[in-house]
Amino acid sequence: MMFNKMKLWKNQNNSSILRDKINKIKELPVPEHVAIIMDGNGRWAKKRALPRVAGHHEGMKVVRKTTMLANELGIKTLTLYAFSTENWKRPKNEVDYIMKLPEEFLGTFLPELVENNVQVKMIGYKDQLPGHTLRAIEKAMDQTRNNNGLVLNFALNYGSRLEIVDAVKKVIIDTQNGKLQSSELDEQVFSSYLMTAGFADPDLLIRTSGEIRLSNFMLWQLAYSEFWFTDVLWPDFSEEHLLEAIEVFQKRQRRFGGI
Ligand code: IPE
Ligand code: IPE
Ligand code: MG
Repeated sequence: MMFNKMKLWKNQNNSSILRDKINKIKELPVPEHVAIIMDGNGRWAKKRALPRVAGHHEGMKVVRKTTMLANELGIKTLTLYAFSTENWKRPKNEVDYIMKLPEEFLGTFLPELVENNVQVKMIGYKDQLPGHTLRAIEKAMDQTRNNNGLVLNFALNYGSRLEIVDAVKKVIIDTQNGKLQSSELDEQVFSSYLMTAGFADPDLLIRTSGEIRLSNFMLWQLAYSEFWFTDVLWPDFSEEHLLEAIEVFQKRQRRFGGI
């Protein structure tokens, strides 16, 4: 009884600290587009002597918490790197498991996303995705199409170099068939050939798990983004960590080459 009361008090206390932090952060501009390389699921599981897939499952819960907080903070777009074009190199059982997670995640949380005005989107190569994975995402995109709160953008089977090469190919085709004059091609026009057409570039990139690299993520789009790295493994990433990253972002001075 005593223990329960103490636990309750602790939770309430924690949430009021969190609330204060959220309010403080909202006094300053928040990044409009936050992109996260959600890394470290496998190591999280290994530390607990669990199969790697247990880390992916745990990571899914963090996606929900992060989405809800991002929405509350007024972030416009949250892009989550969930599976790269290189991740097919992993053992089949792991890939199969990851490809089932969108169904599980959206099966549980889609009503909550709809209710909270979140719009689901996806960037990445759809063709290689299993039908069941794509159907789950397309259903979510369809049901949230008219929402105008946070855009929750999953990068699934996404790879930036291939994206750029494909954009170049489309540019060539459009110049050959007269849709585009080569003199019209500039950075903005080129951006419209990428999978992220219509999205602003990320203001803030977060990568968990202590790896300091991009792993083929948004090479073009991150040209002037602020980077925030943490050793925390994705399943351990909490609301406090997201708030910390945003606090750091708010203190950065972005110059874009100016003075
Ligand atoms: C990130 O966690 C999730 C995906 C890449 C799908 P990892 O599975 O890469 O976890 P680590 O890096 O092996 O710990
Ligand atoms: C990057 O993580 C891809 C995702 C988080 C989806 P990886 O775990 O695949 O990256 P590397 O192999 O360590 O660079
Ligand atoms: Mg990894």
